[in-house]
Amino acid sequence: MKNVGLIGWRGMVGSVLMQRMSEERDFDAIRPVFFSTSQHGQAAPTVGGHGGTLQDAFNIEALRALDIIITCQGGDYTSEIYPKLRASGWQGYWIDAASTLRMQDDAIIILDPVNHQVIREGLDKGIKTFVGGNCTVSLMLMSLGGLFAHNLVEWASVATYQAASGGGARHMRELLTQMGMLHDHVAPELQDPASAILNIERKVTEFTRSGTLPVDNFGVPLAGSLIPWIDKQLENGQSREEWKGQAETNKILSTQQTIPVDGLCVRVGALRCHSQAFTLKLKKDVPLAEIEQLLGSHNEWVKVVPNDRELTMRELTPAAVTGTLSTPVGRLRKLNMGPEYLSAFTVGDQLLWGAAEPLRRMLRLLVD
Ligand code: HSE
Repeated sequence: MKNVGLIGWRGMVGSVLMQRMSEERDFDAIRPVFFSTSQHGQAAPTVGGHGGTLQDAFNIEALRALDIIITCQGGDYTSEIYPKLRASGWQGYWIDAASTLRMQDDAIIILDPVNHQVIREGLDKGIKTFVGGNCTVSLMLMSLGGLFAHNLVEWASVATYQAASGGGARHMRELLTQMGMLHDHVAPELQDPASAILNIERKVTEFTRSGTLPVDNFGVPLAGSLIPWIDKQLENGQSREEWKGQAETNKILSTQQTIPVDGLCVRVGALRCHSQAFTLKLKKDVPLAEIEQLLGSHNEWVKVVPNDRELTMRELTPAAVTGTLSTPVGRLRKLNMGPEYLSAFTVGDQLLWGAAEPLRRMLRLLVD
């Protein structure tokens, strides 16, 4: 059995990873060693009959004893520890949720239902570093993989509707706190059916602008609003999140010729599901029924939602998809621009396929 170090298992992505590993009995296939950046020496969680004490996540000697490391600890930890560990001669497998190493030549972005072959070839070549992709990119490829796999996409333009969880646990709390405060501010008027809605709206808007809402994490109010910027500003006018769309998609697919992917990334008041609206330029006019067949048969998690009002409202929303591994795609139709222009709308849980799931599946590829 392989010795597998788990780092950052207590955070939000780490907790989802632990839950999924327990559900899939991954701990039966490994010897887990739990690490901590702050509480080493304390009792480790008991999973799959394994116990012990927490090891020091900064102790290179302890890390060197592992066959595989999975980290959800974040980019700062990766930046500090990974170079030291490799410099020490460690030859183990490093599986990481953080973006730090994603674009390195000796790292593969893992999303095995989409790039299983790229991963296999990488393993054969001796690649030892495997990194989970950006959540919007991974969720796009889980939903639209059938079109990319058949080399039908000339370019993709996207508008995202990204959930608070993409920012982190504190962002989710801040959003919910803002929502509650807005509601509390007009609760008596809402109870009174005779009160004028524009008066309620004015009170909410003034309160939103008053500087009273907590904005330490988002910087501005998100509840009742949206934020059309995610991550850092780049010199070309893109946000870093927007830049990742093309860079990571093409790396995951290992394309010979770059497929242009670009658009606008927007934070909305959803909790943990990212949604995305696409305009796709196809390389040829493919009948819609064939498109639906290609999409629906690509992997076992994608589901084509017929372009029907009732079904779309019931099945193609964050409320319906949150907490599931389903990555539905719908609103499929040819656009007025011409028969090669397709619209699509996707939804996916940002913490599952968008973060934790590819990591545990990479682990299984290594230990099964
Ligand atoms: N950058 C993403 C977001 C999260 O802010 O929603 C994870 O890839």
